[in-house]
Amino acid sequence: MADIGELVNIGLLGCGTIGSGVYHLADKNARELTMAAGRPFRISRILVKQIDEPRTFPADRSLMTTDAAAVLQDPEINVFIELIGGIEPARTFALDVLGRGKHLVTANKELVARHGRELMEAAARSGSQVRFEASVGGGIPLIRPLEESLGGDRVEKIMGIVNGTTNYILTRMSDEGSTYAEALAEAQGLGYAEADPVADVEGADAASKLAILCSIAFNVGVTDAQVYREGINGVRPEDLENARELGYAVKLLAVAISEDDGISARVHPTMIPLEHPLASVSGNFNAIFITGESVGDLMFYGQGAGSLPTATAILGDVVNVVRNMDRPPASRRSYWSRPGNVKPIDEALTRFYVVLRVEDRPGVLAWIAGVFGENQVSLESVVQKGFGDSAQIVMITHQVMERNFQAARERLADLDVVLEIPSVIRVESG
Ligand code: HSE
Repeated sequence: MADIGELVNIGLLGCGTIGSGVYHLADKNARELTMAAGRPFRISRILVKQIDEPRTFPADRSLMTTDAAAVLQDPEINVFIELIGGIEPARTFALDVLGRGKHLVTANKELVARHGRELMEAAARSGSQVRFEASVGGGIPLIRPLEESLGGDRVEKIMGIVNGTTNYILTRMSDEGSTYAEALAEAQGLGYAEADPVADVEGADAASKLAILCSIAFNVGVTDAQVYREGINGVRPEDLENARELGYAVKLLAVAISEDDGISARVHPTMIPLEHPLASVSGNFNAIFITGESVGDLMFYGQGAGSLPTATAILGDVVNVVRNMDRPPASRRSYWSRPGNVKPIDEALTRFYVVLRVEDRPGVLAWIAGVFGENQVSLESVVQKGFGDSAQIVMITHQVMERNFQAARERLADLDVVLEIPSVIRVESG
């Protein structure tokens, strides 16, 4: 291990959009980083897929190699920054370096959300550190505030917009009347979307991020598979219009609530009141609203993706690792080995917005109200839109157990007078 004041060598695994941003910022802000870390550090080796590929920022080619072992086994390197993404080979590389007592900084949300426990246990065994601030919310500081600044409080609820691509799409659809396909193509053109945007639009990206936030906030291990998710593909322009008329915005929200009998963790399109601070978060911005038992409400807002914002989070982690590298790690996160009790979606308590296309004749509303009543679903508002063949009933329920609402929905779908149920969106009160 390096002595105080000695130069720390960093191995960069991956040099694409984020990696080249890290290289650029580490070089440009070397003085500030040395002051923050208490000793100088430099990127001494870079593992790349191809040396000659276009990069967001130029990086020193003489440091680059396509030989993974040459970087991973370099005895001079104490800290690795993993920016390969995905599970393999990132997991093998991460476990390899942690197993040898090296420190790891990663932006890899899939890896931490799925294999967090394995990583924390490997780090605890060898006394090394794992940091992953950039894995959630890009440049927004979240992990350290949750882990350290809020260490003296109990987090009760997290509600976040943690995927910029879907927020951009919903904002364009709502503000400009773009179609879903047009807005998605724009988001891809602007570089917000993942290589495969399915992870964004179907909620998998947000589910990984929420699993990480749950683990840190609630001191248990939560994996991405435990988070219920629905994507935004079913949200129609009419729903955005109806929502606005009713006083709501539609956002893809990641919601986690710590309850007496377990954790509720879910990602789905959500209607939130226009006056809620999350409703005005537009474009590709991210924002995470956290409620602590003692601190009350907090909101963290900023760029959730992009080269330089994400690079700041990674370098902040490097600073933290370097400052602490000669001390035993303050947190070994042993709680990650205790699986979180995440409740099934059936037990979630929410309100619902539901649209029914119906036959427009006497008695229809009474039938529908009857089905809701039989299933203990109480209605908060009912509006009929259109008439004749295009009659639609737009309803908002009071808070209800998910399983009761779904039972009513199934019964309604069977009624002859209900022609279609084109939309169901959960509603948060804020
Ligand atoms: N694809 C992600 C997003 C980027 O749209 O927010 C970083 O996780």
